[in-house]
Amino acid sequence: MTVPVTLAVLGASGDLAHRLLLPGLGTLLSTNPEYDVTLVGCATDPLSHDEWVARVREALGGQCHKSSIERVIATTRYEQLDLTNPVALRGLLKSLGDSPVLYLALPPRVSMAVCKALTTLEIPPGLRIALEKPFGSDLATARELNEVLAGLVPENQLFRIDHYLGKSVVINLLGLRFTNRIFEHAWNNQNIERVDITVDEVLALEGRARYYDGAGAMRDMIQSHLLLVLALFAMEEPPSLNERDVRDLIALMLRHTHLWDGNPVTSSRRARYAAGTVAGESVPNYVDEPGVDPDRNTETLAEVTVRINTDRWAGVPFRLRSGKALGDARNGITVVFRPVDHVPEGFTSAPPNVLSIGMKPANIRLGLSTNAESNRFELNQSVLSTDLAESPLKPYGEILDSIFRGDPLLTVRGDVAEECWRIVEPVLDAWHQGLVPMDEYRAGGAGPARWNL
Ligand code: BG6
Repeated sequence: MTVPVTLAVLGASGDLAHRLLLPGLGTLLSTNPEYDVTLVGCATDPLSHDEWVARVREALGGQCHKSSIERVIATTRYEQLDLTNPVALRGLLKSLGDSPVLYLALPPRVSMAVCKALTTLEIPPGLRIALEKPFGSDLATARELNEVLAGLVPENQLFRIDHYLGKSVVINLLGLRFTNRIFEHAWNNQNIERVDITVDEVLALEGRARYYDGAGAMRDMIQSHLLLVLALFAMEEPPSLNERDVRDLIALMLRHTHLWDGNPVTSSRRARYAAGTVAGESVPNYVDEPGVDPDRNTETLAEVTVRINTDRWAGVPFRLRSGKALGDARNGITVVFRPVDHVPEGFTSAPPNVLSIGMKPANIRLGLSTNAESNRFELNQSVLSTDLAESPLKPYGEILDSIFRGDPLLTVRGDVAEECWRIVEPVLDAWHQGLVPMDEYRAGGAGPARWNL
C-alpha cells in the first residue's frame, strides 16, 4: 500500500534543503518505500526544471535505490515564488495534492513573514506545517510566532524542527537512563558533580553568512539543540514515550532551568575565530568571511552554565558549549561523578568516574578505577566503551517520517521553544550591551587560551 504525501519545501534552493533535508528524505525512501512523495521545491531563486531536477538527483543520490529517486523525479516540480506574497502562496496551497506538508526551511525572519502571509489565506484542512529552528530570534518573537501559528493550524499539525531530536542517541537518553538500574539511581546531585554538553565543530562558516551572521553560536546551537539535550538528560521519568508524556516533562525540566548564578555576565562566555587552519584548509578571520557584517559582533563560540532548581539537581553545574572552526570535533555529554567518600588506606587516590555519551559518532565510554598492571595497590583508569547503533535514517529522515505519520514526538512544542528563549535571553541581552568580552581563538585551535580548556 502506498502512502501519498505532497512535500512542499520553501527555501528549496538553500543549503539546509540540499545538504540535510533531501538526503534525509532519501534515507526515508530507502527504508520506507511505501511513501509516494510528490516533492515541490519553492524559492525566490530562478531555477529551471532541469536545474532543480539535477539538484534533487544529487541530494538523493546514494541515499536510496535508483528507482525511488526516479519516482520522485517523475513528479517533482520547482516553483519560483515570492514566498511572503499571499497571492503566490494561495496559488501554491491550491496546487498541493494529497496529505500536504509545507516545510519552511528558512531563516526565522522569513519564516515569520511567510506564516503571517498565510494567516490571510484559507488553509487546506489537514495541512501540516513544519518549520526550522531557531523559532523566532528572541522570546518576544518566539511568542509572536506561536500566536501566528496557532491561528493557522492546530498544534498537532505543527512540527517545529530541531534535528537533534531526530538523532537516535538523543531520544535514547531516556532508554539509557530509565532501563539501566546502574544509571537511574546515580542520576542526581548526590552522585554527579558536573555535566558538560559540548558540540565543537570543525566546520567554519561554509558560506552560510546570510543566516549565521544574524544568529551566532548561542542562537544557532545552544538555544535549541543543547537545551533539548539537557532536558532529555535531566528530566523525570515519563509514563510512556507518547509525545504528550515526553514533551510535558521536557517543558517542565526547562521551566526549572536558570542561569548558574542568575547572572548572565558570570554564567556565559563568547568568542570569535581568527584566521587559522582547520583540517588542512586555511580559514580567514570570521569578520573577513564573505557576507559577515563586523558591526553585528556575532560570536562563533558560545558557552553558558545553567542550574536546574530541583531536589535532584540542585548544585550541579551544566555547562553548554558550542563553536565553529575548532581543531577537535569534541561533542557529546560528559558526566563527571563525585569521588567516593572513602578510599581504603593503601590505594593511590581514585580518579572520578566519567561517563561520556558521544553524539557524533554515537558511543558511550565509562571511566572506571581498576587495578594497575604492576602494583595491586595502585589504581588506574580503564575505559569501557561501546559504539551505539544508529538508525539507517539520518536525523532528517526520522523527522520527515514523524511528520508524514503525524506524530510530533520528535519535534519542539511551542511552550518548549519559548522556555529555551527565556533561559538564554538575559545572556543575549548582556552580550548585546557589551557586558561580556568577545574573546578570540585561532581557527583550528582549542578555543580561547584564557578559557583554560
Ligand atoms: C544546525 C546548525 O542546526 O546544526 C549548524 O544550524 C550546525 O550550524 C548543525 O553545523 C550541527 O548539526 P550536527 O548534526 O552536524 O551536529
